[in-house]
Amino acid sequence: MAATHAAFFFYIWGIVEDQLAALESEVKNRATAARSLEELEALRTAILGRKGGRLSNIMSGVGKIAKADRAEFGRRANEAKTRIEAILDEAQARLSDADLQSQLEKRYDVTFPGTPPRLGSIHILRRTLDDVADFFRSRGFAIVMGPEVETEYFNFEAMNIPADHPSRDAMDTFYLARENGPKGPLPQDPLLQTPGATAPLLRTHTSPMQVRAMLEYPPPIAVLVPGKTYRRDALDARHTFNFHQFEGLQVDRGITFGHLKGFVSDLCRHLYGKTRRTRFRPSYFQFTEPSAEVDVSCPVCDGGGCRTCGGAGWLEMGGSGMVHPNVLRAAGYDPEAYTGWAFGLGIERIAMVRHGIDDIRLFTENDPAFLEQFA
Ligand code: DAH
Repeated sequence: MAATHAAFFFYIWGIVEDQLAALESEVKNRATAARSLEELEALRTAILGRKGGRLSNIMSGVGKIAKADRAEFGRRANEAKTRIEAILDEAQARLSDADLQSQLEKRYDVTFPGTPPRLGSIHILRRTLDDVADFFRSRGFAIVMGPEVETEYFNFEAMNIPADHPSRDAMDTFYLARENGPKGPLPQDPLLQTPGATAPLLRTHTSPMQVRAMLEYPPPIAVLVPGKTYRRDALDARHTFNFHQFEGLQVDRGITFGHLKGFVSDLCRHLYGKTRRTRFRPSYFQFTEPSAEVDVSCPVCDGGGCRTCGGAGWLEMGGSGMVHPNVLRAAGYDPEAYTGWAFGLGIERIAMVRHGIDDIRLFTENDPAFLEQFA
């Protein structure tokens, strides 16, 4: 009985040994024949894969082998595994060498025309502003930026526009919701934790930065303030609820309206060409006294009247004037000692006139066909 058992186990042992040897030589043949790293990798998984791999299938036969022989069987199986791995690794080294070699042997025609990448470009509004900034910088002005979320105080009060003034309606302001209702705390932004801070709103003009800048820097001051502005305007070819302005401000001892005229006329020549004329029409703004609207002679018809200027021969550019004493006071500047000029222009407006763009919506529609024209 015992002898029969021994013979049976020996028989099984022999089969398993044969299987291991056959597998090893099969792997050797196939690895030598493999033509690609992918092919080799597939072979590796088929043989050594933990689940369903041929080697593990053979090794699961260990259960049929006598307990006493199992350790020896395990040792031999592991040796076989090590040899198989070595065969595969060697083939892998051979194939990756060949791969590298063939990459190195490739000849490239460096004169062959390539596919040009699609490059981005600077947006036309940014380009326009850069041009404006160049002009201000060349005259020694600093560039300062301010918050788009403003308080009623800076947007209106500090600009000499009292609470009941009808022009607050004209500005069509976006008011922002506050946490815990209209009397809740202001957002945590330190810029909003300032005197008289009341309702937060989206600034309707860049003018509030006049006072912010003067509070920060003692006189004399000369700054350019570019930025986004917001108004509750219905969208059409000329209006949008979000546009860009810039503000020029210069305050010093002895500044006069003449300085304003000289600066703005130069700026218009810089932007529209050397032959442009500038005119100042009396106007009214709460934050300047006297105030003037700035017109530039139409660069298309040079004053004769055309479609661009609506037949007027002049284009309205923006508002200007001598900084109101109340504004200087709100900034802690002494209006007896200091005077200054300020003006505010729209950046979209300048770009539209310079490039004959007839719809303000084009700036934000992100149509490459439009934007590429200014790349
Ligand atoms: N803030 C005015 C607006 O948006 C424009 C303006 C007028 C700005 C006169 C000024 C100024 O600095 O002096 O309509």
